[in-house]
Amino acid sequence: MAIKDKQRTEYACATCGTRQMKWTGQCPKCLEWNTFHEEVRFVEKFDAKKSRITEKPKPIRLKDVTLKETTRFETEIKEFDRMIGGGIVPGSLALVGGEPGIGKSTLMLQLSARIANKGKTVLYVTGEESVEQTTIRARRLGIEEEGLFLLAETNFNHILQEIDDINPDVLIVDSIQVIYKADLPSAPGSVTQVRETTQELMLLSKGRAITTFIIGHVTKGGDIAGPKVLEHLVDTVLYFEGDKQNNFRMIKVVKNRFGPTDEVAVFQMLKGGLAEVPNPSELFLAERVLEVPGAAVSAALEGNRPILIEAQALVSETNFPAPMRRSSGIDQNRLALLLAVLEKKVRYPLYRCDVFVSVAGGLKIVEPGLDLALVLAVASSFRSKPIDRNTCMAGEVGLSGEVRPVARIESRIKEAKHMGFKRFILPKRNMKGLSKEAREGIILVGADFIEEAIDACIN
Ligand code: TYD
Ligand code: MG
Repeated sequence: MAIKDKQRTEYACATCGTRQMKWTGQCPKCLEWNTFHEEVRFVEKFDAKKSRITEKPKPIRLKDVTLKETTRFETEIKEFDRMIGGGIVPGSLALVGGEPGIGKSTLMLQLSARIANKGKTVLYVTGEESVEQTTIRARRLGIEEEGLFLLAETNFNHILQEIDDINPDVLIVDSIQVIYKADLPSAPGSVTQVRETTQELMLLSKGRAITTFIIGHVTKGGDIAGPKVLEHLVDTVLYFEGDKQNNFRMIKVVKNRFGPTDEVAVFQMLKGGLAEVPNPSELFLAERVLEVPGAAVSAALEGNRPILIEAQALVSETNFPAPMRRSSGIDQNRLALLLAVLEKKVRYPLYRCDVFVSVAGGLKIVEPGLDLALVLAVASSFRSKPIDRNTCMAGEVGLSGEVRPVARIESRIKEAKHMGFKRFILPKRNMKGLSKEAREGIILVGADFIEEAIDACIN
């Protein structure tokens, strides 16, 4: 009996890739609305005969496995190399996600140039922009490397032919959402298309040791499949963050089969493209106005990395019954909670005051260790007294005003010392077990409750 592949119509969520037989308004998994789209899928029937002919892998004793040493090559963009674990692994496939206009194409073009400069061949498939547009951008960035090829194509099979011809070491696909395989019934940008093309690119990169970078836009509205759908298929996932009004861009490693996750690298978008920021603390603190009320420096963690940033607050009395609470860069609910703790525990009448809080640099920091600096910035503004310029802090604040321990305290203290701070306020419970090295060269002040921290900073 002939075994045929079966065609099946399904609905797939553009945000998380969940498939189901029926259309629903809301995705049961990611809870997004209106993200289900009809897609045709081929379901391959299991063919016992076929599977018998193909070579099957045999189990092998773990101790008998010989490992080839992974040779990495560096891109010379040092922050990028460090972030992905010390250079690029040949034959790996990375996904570069981020909102449109954040700088993905710019970074990839810069990266291509550096790699081509090292004598490697790079094929940059520009499906979104024409060769002319990309060239204008490249010229502006001062890029004219020999080994860099541009290809404006979206048909996957045509791209494959060019890959055969050029035989590149590195392939950039900008972006995966516009590339399509003509033999699939779904539209470009659908879950089926982005998955199928990514899967093929994975086979290609593994089979021929072509290092591949796939660009994927983070989409809103759920019409086009987002990069989340592809995360499980690729080796490495990098996400761009940062707001467009601000120059800073942060790249986070969300997944990495060849290195640590939670690494971050900071870049700055300048006229000449993205520039590395090897020491972000220096840059964020450079804008600091010293010794003004309402400012507190925090040693915050971004991924695994301690970054010193300044929390700013403005507390001003108002006659309106409903005072304003505004925050930028931090969670509004977190701010409300911290203000309530200050009202209840330190008895500041903040219900009579408008409170504005921001984190300098335009970064979004979601980290409990920032709490203490936020509380102290508000207290400092409320009391109109500045905090000593040489004081840095970190600590989570609990509902009863207790200062809770935070992760990686030693690396936070080290970063503060490195930036010339003389005093560090930290949770008392973090004081236990600190190494001798961490205690040296800085005055450590442990606090169990926020009152103690306020007393230590504001008098
Ligand atoms: P782009 O890399 O095209 O974003 P993406 O590929 O993620 O959609 O970045 C576009 C923005 O970057 C654009 O608004 C202009 C800005 N930009 C600079 O400020 N300087 C530069 O040198 C370049 C190339 C772009
Ligand atoms: Mg782009």
